[in-house]
Amino acid sequence: MDVFEGKSWISGQGLVNTCIGIDEGKITAVKKILKGDNHTKFEGIILPSAFDMHVHFRDPGYPHKEDWKTGSECAAAGGVTAVVDMPNTNPFTSDLETFNDKVSTASSKSVVDFGVGVNVEKDLTEQTWFDTIPAAFWKLYPYGISSAEYFSYAKEVLDKTSKPLVIHGEHPDHMHNEPLNELSDHTQNRLIAEPECLASMPSSPYLHVAHLSTLEGLNRMPKLASSEVCPHHLLLNLDNCHSLDCKVDPPLRTKKDNSGLYDAFREGKIPILSSDHAPHTIDEKRSDNPPSGLPGVETMIPLMLNEVSEGRLELSRLVNAMSEAPAERLGLDRGRISEGMPADLIMIDMKNSKPIDLDKLHSKSNWTPFEDWPAIFPSQVYRRGELIAESGEIRQEGGGQNLF
Ligand code: DOR
Ligand code: ZN
Repeated sequence: MDVFEGKSWISGQGLVNTCIGIDEGKITAVKKILKGDNHTKFEGIILPSAFDMHVHFRDPGYPHKEDWKTGSECAAAGGVTAVVDMPNTNPFTSDLETFNDKVSTASSKSVVDFGVGVNVEKDLTEQTWFDTIPAAFWKLYPYGISSAEYFSYAKEVLDKTSKPLVIHGEHPDHMHNEPLNELSDHTQNRLIAEPECLASMPSSPYLHVAHLSTLEGLNRMPKLASSEVCPHHLLLNLDNCHSLDCKVDPPLRTKKDNSGLYDAFREGKIPILSSDHAPHTIDEKRSDNPPSGLPGVETMIPLMLNEVSEGRLELSRLVNAMSEAPAERLGLDRGRISEGMPADLIMIDMKNSKPIDLDKLHSKSNWTPFEDWPAIFPSQVYRRGELIAESGEIRQEGGGQNLF
């Protein structure tokens, strides 16, 4: 048995001086005193690592933007030991074959554990594999379809599913494409797309709204549904971010939206933190028709730990939003430091806040909207008891497993 000793986050108790016993990747004991074969004492704090249920690792299809190796290494260095990958790869993950291919690629290349989302297309619920495919969730996009199709697909899946339907909640009739001269033009193009969409969505406990971005959208959340918010919709707005590089769907909004969403996040009304890691190269971003999306899986937890250290967020809320709540939402028993859980842990020195250095990040996209922002990166990251990252360096090749 390996033993980690230090101030550890125990749900319901907070930070407690304790020993964590680990055998074959699982936490086998949490006790004041434990004797093991290897005993390591940590000076900082020990938290459950994060589970990011919204990333785009671009594999298959766009290896120049990211792939399972580089995307998962970003995750690992940023304290995220499990992710769910979205289906808008090439080909789309929309049937058993594309699903199995992605799981097999991820199994050979990902250093973090993972799940795979399946795209919602016509007649999804009639497929022979609808009830059996081990997908993390279904994902519905509003692109390239009419609003009638969008809402009827949502209803059809919600009526028949036994796993979450994650929606990109922007109304197809309100997503305009007027040319962009500045970042705020993109916001104008989508001004009411989110609240209009959410106001028309049926209420269901299976519904999960991805990347909430507006106060108005929050107010129109369908009853019984859950939601997530990303660091860029909490921290960036049209006043502190002007670059067209920051074009993202849904768009950046106002300070008022940031603070309304942040309050709801603090209260747990928005339960889950996700990154929507959506890398594109800087050349693509600077082209005549820039794609939407920001990289973020590596900076999400470091930025939010800095928020905790500056007193704007409770540590209990961050741990819940990054580890416990996403696991629970997807029906997985993990994300806590207690007996029987996978030993997915991050070690943090809360005093070690440093400006984000682009050269130290692992994404192929090679840019971040958060350059020089203060952030607290984990000193060590353990996936099922194995050290996978240390001070930003990756310590393992692959080894990630499908969680579903
Ligand atoms: O900005 C975005 N980029 N929003 C999305 O929903 C998709 C993503 C992407 O895949 O690039
Ligand atoms: Zn996304």
